[in-house]
Amino acid sequence: PLAVELARSGATVRVEAGETVLHAVRNLVPSAPSSCEQGWCGTCETRVLDGEPDHRDRVLTEGERESGDTMMICVSRARSERLVLDL
Ligand code: FES
Repeated sequence: PLAVELARSGATVRVEAGETVLHAVRNLVPSAPSSCEQGWCGTCETRVLDGEPDHRDRVLTEGERESGDTMMICVSRARSERLVLDL
């Protein structure tokens, strides 16, 4: 499973295979915003402080994907075993 650290609280959540990062994060941050939950609206965009996102959205440009500074947590996952999010 992927480990996602929430920088503002220091808590870490496990994201199981087949679970979205958004779903796992909501256990600790119920207010995390989302709308389409299919990777096209941009509502769930979250800053990435560490780790390498595996982008699966249709919102970010190629340059934004490469920078890895932000991700759509409703669909995207990680290439690294750990992500640190600004949540
Ligand atoms: Fe729409 Fe994630 S909720 S892109």
